[in-house]
Order: sequence, then C-alpha cells, then structure tokens
Amino acid sequence: MKVLLIAGTTAREHAIADALSRSRHKPEIIALCASPNPGIRAVAARQEVMNIMDFPRVLDIAKEVKPDFAIIGPDDPIGSGLADELEAIGVPCVAPKKSLARIESSKGFTRDLLAKFGIDASPKFRVFSRTGNSIGALAEEKKSLHAYLTELGGDFVVKYDALKGGKGVKLSGEHLATIEDGVDYAIECLNECGRTVIEEKLVGVEFSLLSFVSGTQVADMPAVQDHKRAHERDLGANTGGMGTYTDADHSLPFLAPADLEKAKEINRQVAAALMEECGEAYKGILYGGFIAVKDGIRVIEYNARFGDPEALNLLPLLRSDFVDICLAIIRGELRDDLVSFANKATVCKYVTAQSYPESKKEKGQPFTLPSPLPSDVRLFYGDATEGPDGTLLLGGSRAVGIVGIGDTIELAERAAQSVCEQIRGPVRYRRDIGTKKLIGQRIEMMKQLRS
Ligand code: AMP
Ligand code: GLY
Repeated sequence: MKVLLIAGTTAREHAIADALSRSRHKPEIIALCASPNPGIRAVAARQEVMNIMDFPRVLDIAKEVKPDFAIIGPDDPIGSGLADELEAIGVPCVAPKKSLARIESSKGFTRDLLAKFGIDASPKFRVFSRTGNSIGALAEEKKSLHAYLTELGGDFVVKYDALKGGKGVKLSGEHLATIEDGVDYAIECLNECGRTVIEEKLVGVEFSLLSFVSGTQVADMPAVQDHKRAHERDLGANTGGMGTYTDADHSLPFLAPADLEKAKEINRQVAAALMEECGEAYKGILYGGFIAVKDGIRVIEYNARFGDPEALNLLPLLRSDFVDICLAIIRGELRDDLVSFANKATVCKYVTAQSYPESKKEKGQPFTLPSPLPSDVRLFYGDATEGPDGTLLLGGSRAVGIVGIGDTIELAERAAQSVCEQIRGPVRYRRDIGTKKLIGQRIEMMKQLRS
C-alpha cells in the first residue's frame, strides 16, 4: 500500500506519518513536505521538499507514484481544492473537496450553513458583503457596520472571511479598542476579501471536538483544549497553538456531560448539513471549535483538517489502525466501533523559537533534545530541520511538540514538562499548560458562569 502525505511545516504531519507507520498495512509513505521534516523522513519511503501549493507538481508526483490514497494536513491546499484535483486523477483523499472545505475557509459560509439547517449554536452574527466601490456605497457600509457593532453592545468580534493563517479574527477589548476600530477592520476585510462576519463576543471556555467523517458517518475523537496565546497565563499574541491536553475519560475537566454530548450532536448535524448543501460527502477530519458558555455550548469555528497540535495528543492515543480508518472514510464504511482511543490523558507542549511569534530571529540556530526519551513521552518534529552533521536547527516557529501520556493530566503534564526542561537552545514553551492551577481556573470560570 502507498500513501501520499501532503505536509506543511508543523508537527501535525509527523504525528500523521507516525500513525500511518504503525498500521498493520505497513504503507509506503510518500511525503510531500513544505520543509524537510526529520521525523517524517525517518518513517517515509520518500520525502520531497517542495512548494505544496504547486498543484501541477503534486499531481505529477501522484501520477508517478499511484498512491492508494492521499491525506492532506494543512488548511491551504485543502481550501484551494487539492482534494478535487487528486480525486480527478483517481487518488481518493482523506480531506474534503474545496466546496466542503468552505466550512473552514469561509466563516460566513459556516454561520449561514448553521442558520440554514437550524443548528442553533451560533452567537448573534451578521455577514456583510461589499456592496459597491462608490464613495456613497462605502459611507453606507460604514453606517450599517457601525449600527450593528453598536447593537451588539460594544462586545464584538470581526472576522476576515477567508483563510488568513489564523490571524483574521479580531476581538473588541483586545485588538479593537472602539467601535470605530471595529468598523475600520471590517472595511479592511471588505477591501481584501469582499466579506466580513461580525459576531457577538462570547464569554466562556473553549474546547475542540474532532471527528472522523465520511458523509453522515461520524466517529469522534477525545475532546481537546488548545492554548492559543503565546505566553503563560494566556497573555500575548495569538499563535497556531502553544499546547493542548486531553483527559483519560475523553471529556475535559470543566465540561458537563451534556456539553460534550451537544458538541458530538453538532458535529453530526454539520456533517449532514454539508452533505445536503454541497451534494457530496465530506471525507476527512471535521474539527469543531466550541466554547462552553453559561447556558450551553456554541460554535466558534470549524476546521477541515486535524488541528495542530491537537493531532499530537490524539493520534498517539489511537488504538485502532489509522489506515483502516482512512480506508473506511474513503469507502463510506466508517463505524464507531472502528475507532478506539486509549483511556489515557495527554499533555502537549510546543517548544518554539524564543521570539516566536513576534520574530524569526532564532531561525537556523541549533538546539538539542534529551535522548533517549522516557517511555511516557512522544516527540514530534515541526518547524525544525537537520543540518548536514545531524545538528537540529530551529525554523523560527514551533519547533517540536512534546507529548506526555499518563493516567491523569497531572502525570502527563509532569512527563512533558521534564523533557521540555532538558531541551537546550534559544527556545521557550508554556510551563502552565496542563497544570492543576490552570485547569483549576477553567473549572472555576465555568462554575462562576453557570452559578
Ligand atoms: P477563529 O480563527 O475563528 O478560531 O478565532 C480565533 C479565536 O478568536 C478563537 O479561538 C476565539 O478565542 C476567538 N473568537 C472567535 N470568535 C469568537 C466569538 N464569537 N466570541 C468570543 N471569542 C471568539
Ligand atoms: N490548534 C488550532 C488549529 O489547528 O487550528
């Protein structure tokens, strides 16, 4: 069996390659990578470092290799329709086609889909589109944006309506000080992509529920909590994710059982709605980003792929054969009993270059990892490369994901933390992810919201 893996520069695809390599099918992995990933190279039969957005080149390699299927890691190639092009030459994909991937690439599409299919899980929202280029049209746009932001009472979120590397969302009180700032950013979005989504700003605790999906067949993974802020105590800029944890019972300590059940139901409703709206089956990973609020849960966003670093927590826990799951997704034979995860907790801490995300000034500088790793820790390479003498070099972003696995979150955290402490070089990581103190704060916040 041959599997084509399309990889970015994150550790997510190393975790995917690792899960593929553990399969009883022993697939030959042909990895097309945006950067030379030492972890993928170790398990792949072939690694091509290339521009993964160069679709003609990807298709040439696919025609030459004739893989049994392809799995696409990052959002950009999925959002731009790589699955459509691969399927057109007979390569089935574990990744949705372009039209279905709008669930991630267009925030307006997602909000409208939920509304159209009666999935009552959105905050108050309105989608604004560019109406014209005249001065009069611009003045009208500003007026109606101002009126809606005022109607939301000053607590609002302005979203760019296309992929923007996780940087398209701005919140009042954080990035936007006044209603005028909100209007200005909304106009910037309209200028750049023609649409913007304005939403009520929700208060609560975020979590993610990823599901394997084949049309209306849905099998869930354990719930995960990500930490997007760069620094401890959730301070600093938003990043792609500094770390994540899961619990042994596959829920999260601050969630009520009904919250998780509702998230599962919403993922099922969304998969079914996508099938009806787009007229074809969603095949891949559906990532629901939720927020637990005072009276239940709401959808923050959807992604059309594995999360990074969420995949680092989830895939090592997978007890079933990952290739079997991929084949079931492709063939429309996905069943709950095909998907089983170990009842262990995980804590992932991403070790990044010291100045991430502000600058890439440590790019090219060496760092070292402890060896051997303890048996309860997994390591996945992200934005890191190997120099000619085998020295590990920082890429300037999230370098390696360290995943502790244990019977409790506390034990998993200690395992990850002790390895992070032994990494040498100009790097940093968040010590607080997965700690009792931080999780206690989330539990307390939910208690207060719901009391
Ligand atoms: P997104 O790119 O949609 O995940 O948004 C990035 C971050 O913005 C999310 O992880 C949330 O922290 C925040 N966010 C997005 N939408 C809302 C909302 N309606 N209310 C509160 N926070 C939000
Ligand atoms: N960790 C968030 C994401 O993958 O979008």
